[in-house]
Amino acid sequence: MVLQVEEYASADELQDGDRELLEKAITARSSAYAPYSHFEVGAAVRLANGLIFTGNNQENVAYPSGLCAERVALFHAQSVWPEIPVESIAITASAEEFAMTEPVSPCGSCRQVMAEYENRHRNKIRVIMAGNGYLRAINGIENLLPFMFMLEALKKPGGRKAKG
Ligand code: THU
Repeated sequence: MVLQVEEYASADELQDGDRELLEKAITARSSAYAPYSHFEVGAAVRLANGLIFTGNNQENVAYPSGLCAERVALFHAQSVWPEIPVESIAITASAEEFAMTEPVSPCGSCRQVMAEYENRHRNKIRVIMAGNGYLRAINGIENLLPFMFMLEALKKPGGRKAKG
């Protein structure tokens, strides 16, 4: 399997829709709650109905209780519009202590959540990843999570159907 990754030197090279989504992610990043890592992340999700939902990382003194920006945005969007496919997500991060020369790359749990919504709606998700320098984009979560665990793996002959 060959991973397909697009690279862009700057946000100016993005298509209008992607750039607009990234701008919303940058705005969301500025209200991140990251007092422990000082690593602020913003995400913006576009649904197929055109609506955009944003999120940022929410940390906690009990570290595992916090949540990544991507899941804050995705869970919010899909809790309000459960029937509407996720079209794309833009992610950006800035660190207090170092320059983000590489685009931010979502953690494994966020990739798994993206895979779930792709599978739920049978609709590939575009992911735009940014930092301070060049950007990356992929079409379809298999490019971030190859050989992913699929719903089909849980289907048993004559078994109960998964809802939704
Ligand atoms: N984080 C995100 O919000 N998204 C990512 O893609 C990477 C990591 C957050 C989690 C935590 O608040 C901080 O960044 C450091 O890991």
